[in-house]
Amino acid sequence: MTAVVARAPAKVNVHLGVGPLRPDGFHELRTVYLAVSLFDTVTASAGDGLALTVTGEGTGAARGADLVPTDRRNLVWRAAELLAASAGVAADATLAIDKAIPAAAGLAGGSADAAAALVALDALWGTRAGREDLAAMAAQLGSDVPFSLVGGVALGVGRGEQVTPVLSRTRWHWVLGIAGEGLSTPAVYGELDRMRAAGRIPDGGDLTTPEPLLAALRSGPADALAAALDNDLQAPALALRPDLRRALRAATEAGAVGALVSGSGPTVAVLVADEADAHRLAAELAGAGVFRTVRAVHGPVAGARLAG
Ligand code: C5P
Repeated sequence: MTAVVARAPAKVNVHLGVGPLRPDGFHELRTVYLAVSLFDTVTASAGDGLALTVTGEGTGAARGADLVPTDRRNLVWRAAELLAASAGVAADATLAIDKAIPAAAGLAGGSADAAAALVALDALWGTRAGREDLAAMAAQLGSDVPFSLVGGVALGVGRGEQVTPVLSRTRWHWVLGIAGEGLSTPAVYGELDRMRAAGRIPDGGDLTTPEPLLAALRSGPADALAAALDNDLQAPALALRPDLRRALRAATEAGAVGALVSGSGPTVAVLVADEADAHRLAAELAGAGVFRTVRAVHGPVAGARLAG
């Protein structure tokens, strides 16, 4: 086999309820993930030992190549080591990540890369790991990686790694407003803990399943979904990046049905009525000067898959 190509999608959390900090340093979550049509691609080919290159969004000297490391710090590298060890094969592969999902954006770009790498290497090495084994490895790699494997819409519990599919018959249209500088996920969780300790926002602990949101996902309309969008990490993300308030306001003024910070931010996910509106809003927000770049996307879409 010469080369295997896999791709995996970005995600938006349409609900992110954050409970208390656990002894292991993670927060207990109740989240609803939705995979959207912005994909990273991982190409795996034969190699001697592991080698990794990264191209695309967020790489390039101007944006700081360090944002996406090309050594063991990269989740793709660790995914390769984990699959090789679990299957008892040598970790020999040349891996190339082509990024469309910006790093440190709250879109699970690194998780998508890890999920795509598991799928590509499973095929390259003929390890036939099976979806359940891949899901267990994904959970070891990061909280969002199991969702990147399954895609679609899913409820995530635990630290987000235990995922169950959620029904959504509608194709939702979004504009992703991507800020110039990323936010560190641990920093945003840390700010949440500080704000809660200071009594500036309510304590966590309410991890009920968001039934109105699940009902809206099943059958719409977009207004109902917009009303149910909710993210406990939005307040700390806004505290760390006050400019995001302007970005959310710009989205509303441009005619969004709803808008929220995606995951730990700083990406703003803007729900719109239809595809035409997505393109109209994307053009308007691109010209408003509040985002580095904007993308019109839709979801749900499938999780990590072999391409072609
Ligand atoms: O699992 P992942 O490596 O993506 O998590 C990155 C960081 O985000 C964790 O080290 C932790 O600080 C924070 N996190 C958390 N609770 C979660 C998921 C992530 O506190 N459920």
